[in-house]
Amino acid sequence: MSQKQFAVRIERQDQPSRPPYWQTFVLDYEPGLNVTSVLQRIAANPTTTDGVKVPPVAYESGCLEEVCGSCTMRINGRVRQACSALVDRLLQDDPTGIELRPMSKFPVVRDLCVDRYRLFRALEKLQCWVPVDGYADMGSGPKQSPDQQEQNYPLSQCMSCGCCLEACPQYQEVAIQRRKDESEKDFEQRRDEELDRHFIGAAAMSQAVLMNSNPTGKALATSRIEAMIAPGGIQNCGKAGNCQAVCPKEIPLMHSWGRANRAATIHVVKKFFDG
Ligand code: SF4
Ligand code: SF4
Ligand code: FES
Repeated sequence: MSQKQFAVRIERQDQPSRPPYWQTFVLDYEPGLNVTSVLQRIAANPTTTDGVKVPPVAYESGCLEEVCGSCTMRINGRVRQACSALVDRLLQDDPTGIELRPMSKFPVVRDLCVDRYRLFRALEKLQCWVPVDGYADMGSGPKQSPDQQEQNYPLSQCMSCGCCLEACPQYQEVAIQRRKDESEKDFEQRRDEELDRHFIGAAAMSQAVLMNSNPTGKALATSRIEAMIAPGGIQNCGKAGNCQAVCPKEIPLMHSWGRANRAATIHVVKKFFDG
C-alpha cells in the first residue's frame, strides 16, 4: 500500500442468518472524500486486498447531507452517518485506515444495511404524529409561543437514525423470525406485540414529548403517556445519558426524559385521585 492509499476494513454479512466476516479493500487517497463516496468507489471495483473480485458492499444512503439517517453505521467504533464522516479526519485520528461495521442493535439485512423497523414501530406505538381529520383546509390551527417553539424545535430535528439506540445499554437487539407455517399477517402481528414489550428508546420518547407539546398534537397526549408507561416504556431508562452524547443532531434527550417523566408522574397521580 503506497502513502497515497488507505485501507478500508468492512464487516460483511451475506444474509440475516449467515455469520459475519471481514474483508479489506485498498483505495487511492483523494481529498474531500466521505465514507459514502468510499463505498461508491468500492462498488465500482469490489476487489479485496487479496485480489479477489467480490460482490459490492451493500449500504444505504438517501439525502447525503445528514438528514435522512439511512447511512448510519459504526465507523472506527463510533456510530454516526457515513455521508458526514470525512475520510481526511478519520485518517488523521487513525492513519492505519477506516473500519466499517453495521449497527449492532438492529438485525442486519446485508453488509452495512440494517432493519430499523423497531424504531419506527416505537414511533407508531407512541402515536408520534399530529392527528388531523381530513385533507380539507382547516385553517392555521392554534399558535405556539416563541418560547414553546424554541424549546421544541431541536426535538423536531430527529432523523430516526438510531445512534441513540445503538449507544443505549438498555436497548438490546430483538430478532424475530417468521415461522415456517406462519402467514405474513400473523407474523407481523406477533412481531409488533413482541417488539412492544421491549424498550422504546430515546428517539420515540422524545418524539412523543414533542407531539404532546404541540397544540394540536396534545389531543392524543393521554394515550401517548399511557403507551410511554406500558411495558418497555420510559421506566426502563437508566438515565446514563449515552443517547444524548451520541445524537448527531445534539437533541437534548435528557431534558426530554425529564419532561416525559414529569408528564407520566402527573398522569399517574391524577389517575389515582380520579379513581
Ligand atoms: S434522537 Fe438523535 S440519535 Fe436518536 S434517532 Fe433522533 S437524531 Fe438519531
Ligand atoms: S439515558 Fe436512557 S435512553 Fe439514554 S442511553 Fe441511558 S438508558 Fe438509554
Ligand atoms: S444519506 Fe441521509 S443521513 Fe446520510
